[in-house]
Amino acid sequence: MNIIGTGRAHPSLTVTNDMLSTFLDTSDEWITTRTGIKQRQLISHVKLEDLAAEACHNALKDAGISAEDLDFIICSNVVNEYITPSLSCIVQGMIGATCPCFDLNSACAGFIYALDIANSFFKSKSDINHILVVCAEEPTRMCDWQERSTCVLFGDGAGAAVLKRGDDFKSIALSSFSSIDPLYQIRQLEKTPFITKEEFGGPLVMKGQDVFKLAVNASLNDIRRVVEENGITYDDVDYYLLHQANIRIIETIRKSLDQDKVKFPHNIANYGNTSSASVPILLDELNRNQTLNRGDTIVLSAFGAGFTAGACLLKWSKN
Ligand code: ACO
Repeated sequence: MNIIGTGRAHPSLTVTNDMLSTFLDTSDEWITTRTGIKQRQLISHVKLEDLAAEACHNALKDAGISAEDLDFIICSNVVNEYITPSLSCIVQGMIGATCPCFDLNSACAGFIYALDIANSFFKSKSDINHILVVCAEEPTRMCDWQERSTCVLFGDGAGAAVLKRGDDFKSIALSSFSSIDPLYQIRQLEKTPFITKEEFGGPLVMKGQDVFKLAVNASLNDIRRVVEENGITYDDVDYYLLHQANIRIIETIRKSLDQDKVKFPHNIANYGNTSSASVPILLDELNRNQTLNRGDTIVLSAFGAGFTAGACLLKWSKN
């Protein structure tokens, strides 16, 4: 499987740390030093499906194919306004595709999970030539905006990649282990006359330091697996593109692998944590600003609620 096109879309509203400090007991200094985030793009009037469709259009254009050429669409999403139909069905219609599609929810690791499924489709279905993966997320709608320890972390956005049959992807490692307590959100479903259990809903709950440790351990483990599987060393990897959750998580992983800063490009300062969209958004930035060179060895790694995590190793063959 090869990546032949990337795209992204951000909502137009920029919210700086200083803007947050007008209604929260926080500061630019605290947010910057603890997270690396300076500003984020937030959904105000736009709908998430509009951002998803825009990211898809940009990725298709970059790939030089049209929506009719797609054989499958996989959409990674944690939350959006529709419970049903799936976001992928909505986006399929908006971009004018007719192929089968479905959503997956593997939290912030969704892009890696979608890549693994796409890779399996290419191997098992001979009639599939192009797959579109789109990760569209609005985590800012999950937060309590009076709760300074969570709402400052997130941003909204969409990232997409067009995939084609090929052998650029060398390894994908996924890991999941049930650990709900550190990071969850519960929603209340509609009442029925028969419900007797106690039910409640509320905003995102996070134990930041637990998530920090889980993220670092899972990412290091997945990265080790894909690197070892290819018989190479950490030094042989040109770029590590990590989920943009916190610059300190990225730095802890980088130091542990004993790698140069230049190998860990990041954009968290501009966008915050956009959940599963963060890795394809970063990939698109690096594709478009021509940071990535043909033949580069790239590791992608993401981690999130569940706890779910995954990494993959690929050769970049796109110009
Ligand atoms: N502004 C000012 N002070 C704050 C803020 C804020 N926005 N948020 C928390 N504080 C305060 C706390 O109340 C606490 O005060 P206290 O000492 O008086 O009790 C103090 O700062 C320290 O809080 P900690 O939670 O210990 O701070 P920490 O250094 O752990 O940083 C953070 C918190 C940024 C959440 C960190 O734990 C983290 O990034 N964890 C990873 C979580 C993550 O990335 N989640 C994203 C979603 S999941 C994912 O994508 C993997």
